[in-house]
Order: sequence, then C-alpha cells, then structure tokens
Amino acid sequence: MPLKLGVNIDHVATLRQARFATMLESPNAEPVLLDLAKEAVNGGADSLTIHLRADRRHIQDRDVTVICEANLVPVNFEIGNTEEIIQIAIAHKPAFVCLVPEIREEITTEGGLNVVSQRGELQETIKRLQGAGIQVSLFIDPDAPQLEASKELGAEMVELHTGAYANAANSGNERQRLINGATLGHKLGLQINAGHGINSSNIAELYHVPYLTEFNIGHHLISRALTVGLHHAVAEMRELMDAYPG
Ligand code: PXP
Repeated sequence: MPLKLGVNIDHVATLRQARFATMLESPNAEPVLLDLAKEAVNGGADSLTIHLRADRRHIQDRDVTVICEANLVPVNFEIGNTEEIIQIAIAHKPAFVCLVPEIREEITTEGGLNVVSQRGELQETIKRLQGAGIQVSLFIDPDAPQLEASKELGAEMVELHTGAYANAANSGNERQRLINGATLGHKLGLQINAGHGINSSNIAELYHVPYLTEFNIGHHLISRALTVGLHHAVAEMRELMDAYPG
C-alpha cells in the first residue's frame, strides 16, 4: 500500500486570522481555506487535517463545517479532549479524530499525549467518538507504555510524534525509537501514522520506519507553498513518498 499523505492546513487559517480575525465575514478575508484545501487535494493529499483548538487561534468553528461539508477527501479532525470540542466532532462526523494534548498536564516530556496517565478520560471519549462512527487516532511518543495503553483503550490508530526525530542534532536514536514504536504498534494491531516536523530533507530517513500508513505534514508544505504553490508543494512531497518501501 502506498504511504498516504495527510495535509494539515491550519497555517492557512493562521495567516487569515493574522489580518481578519475580527472581520471574518468580510469579502476581503483571505486566504480562503476551502480554496487551499482544494489545491492540496488536487496536488495529491489523501486527507486533510484541521485542528480546532480551544483558543481558536487558527481554525474556526465555521472552517470545520466548510471543510467537512465539502467532502473532498477524508477529514482528520485534531482536537484536545474537552467536552465542547468533542461535541463539535460528533456533530460533524469527520472520518478520523486525532486526540492531541492541548494543556500541560496532558503532555509527556516529549510532547505526545500522555495516554498512560489519562486512561479514564480518554476511554470515555474514544467510546463516544467511535459510537458516532468516527475512527480514533492518538498522537503519542513512540514508547511501549503509550502504545500499549492506546491499544488497551481501543484506538484504531496512533500517530507517532516525529518532533523529537525532526529536531535532534543526531537523529539516529530517535529514528530507532520510531522503528521500535512502529514495530510494536503493528504487532498490537494498531494502524501507524506519523507526523510533526516532517520536511523534504528529513523524510527519506523515515523510510526505515516500517508499517507506516500515513504521514501528516503541515508547516513545511505551507511554507514551501509560498514559493511554488500548495498544489505543487503537495505533489512534490507525494513524489518523494513513493520511495517508501511499504
Ligand atoms: N500531527 C499532529 C498531531 C500535529 O499536531 C501537527 C501540527 O502540529 C502535525 C502532525 C503537523 O506538524 P507540522 O506542521 O510540523 O508538519
């Protein structure tokens, strides 16, 4: 199976909010999120990721409706585990929800969701989302206790946090952690995705990580789009990803 590419378009909304946060109804409000979503899909995005944060710093509630109703490709809705946002997820029924940490207490030292310390709260949320027909992913560090807890709670998928790998001066150890994590996750029967900090320079080293289904990439693609356009930036990344041995 070819590796899938999920494109995170939050930064398109970041740019719009920088100028139009108080004028979202203005016909001048730009960039238009749906236009860029279409460009990403035309460039080869297999899914679109949007993160509705509690503080609404980039994606707004209306964006969630527009992107979900456009039905271009499956939507991966990133959210923190809070009642208000869970209700929005259930109302919109995206294909996937990826639960991510938003407040300090939920975060491991590496930055993934601390599933081990929050089993109770997460178990209930996962059940509710799945009951609404939404598949659930947990954004975690590639460590055995987090993987085992994710499986125990019934998540279909995990997204392995590649931030430590992307930021390491010597990435060998972090790459090995990802290899071990993906191998264990696969053995447990979890779908393995990966994301954070992936770019065209560090992606090839990640091809040593087995059993990957999807990469989620945002910052690099939106940055590259400033030079070549989002359609082209996504198409370039897709082409690089064809080298994944599968
Ligand atoms: N995966 C998750 C769970 C994220 O929260 C983000 C955005 O921070 C990404 C992937 C994409 O990361 P980046 O923007 O560094 O490519």
